[in-house]
Amino acid sequence: MKILVLGSQGMLGRNLVNRLPGFAHASFPSLEVIAANHAQLDIAQGPNTSRFIAQTTPDIIVNCAAFTNVDACETHISDAFAVNATGAKHVALAGKETGVKIIHISTDYVFDGAKNQSYVETDHPNPISIYGKSKLSGEIAIQEVCEKYAILRTAWLYGQYKKNFVTTMLDLGKKNGSVSVVTDQIGSPTYTTDLSYAIWNVISKDLQGIYHVANTGTCSRYEWARKIFELTGNKVSVHPVKTRDYKRAATVPQNSSLNCSKYTTASGHTMRPWQEALGDYLGTTL
Ligand SMILES: NC(=O)c1ccc[n+]([C@@H]2O[C@H](COP(=O)([O-])OP(=O)(O)OC[C@H]3O[C@@H](n4cnc5c(N)ncnc54)[C@H](OP(=O)(O)O)[C@@H]3O)[C@@H](O)[C@H]2O)c1
Repeated sequence: MKILVLGSQGMLGRNLVNRLPGFAHASFPSLEVIAANHAQLDIAQGPNTSRFIAQTTPDIIVNCAAFTNVDACETHISDAFAVNATGAKHVALAGKETGVKIIHISTDYVFDGAKNQSYVETDHPNPISIYGKSKLSGEIAIQEVCEKYAILRTAWLYGQYKKNFVTTMLDLGKKNGSVSVVTDQIGSPTYTTDLSYAIWNVISKDLQGIYHVANTGTCSRYEWARKIFELTGNKVSVHPVKTRDYKRAATVPQNSSLNCSKYTTASGHTMRPWQEALGDYLGTTL
């Protein structure tokens, strides 16, 4: 089996490329992973995307490529749509032409955050940011074009290969001895290593459709920050603030926590609790 990973230099893409060979088991003894970074393939370029995919002849494409800077999307609207919407469509069309299944990575930010429970796959998306709108357009393109696809919505990613909320908290805590963090954004922190395993699980079980995949449990960003300092033993004061006190370009959902029951039932795999995954990440990498 040949798996092509797009966006292979990103936080998730790099983790996935590194982990996939280790996940292979007896059913897939000849697993081959092809990593394509932004310089090798710009998915915003339709003909190049078709040509690249036709030449590499994958069995599965995992699309981790995206314009992910949520605030920058607000001022770079056409760039955000060129990658997250049109780029996803180019991948979908190339997949259709070659009969390849697409695993497309999407986001909790397709929801508006007004629900007071975790979101399930059948909840109506209603994005409130350019990033969320562009990612939802990508999801729609995948569904309209692809015959074989899985869309995995995930959330609040952190991992070894890029600065993220966890590293930012640690850096700010070290520098200032205190951090101010919002209490009114609720979500599902997710370790890219755990998501990489789930992606493999979706591939090996041949799951189709939309799935929410995140570490189990939910918290506010404030609770997440407190747990980071508790687990690292750093004496850092964490001050609670409200989203309205923290100016940023994008409006983000208040509650974007994901209910992953559909994935758990279909795959037979339960994502571990977010606190456990965070402890693993902090213990093994920092
Ligand atoms: N990070 C999160 O908290 C989060 C939460 C929910 C969902 N997600 C989703 O998870 C997926 C992976 O996110 P991530 O955190 O790993 O993002 P990331 O670190 O920003 O990686 C995205 C990768 O896509 C590449 N890329 C950008 N434009 C491209 C283009 N036109 N053609 C090909 N590659 C392009 C980037 O390359 P350059 O850097 O060279 O441009 C980068 O290597 C994305 O679909 C994202 O929407 C992320």
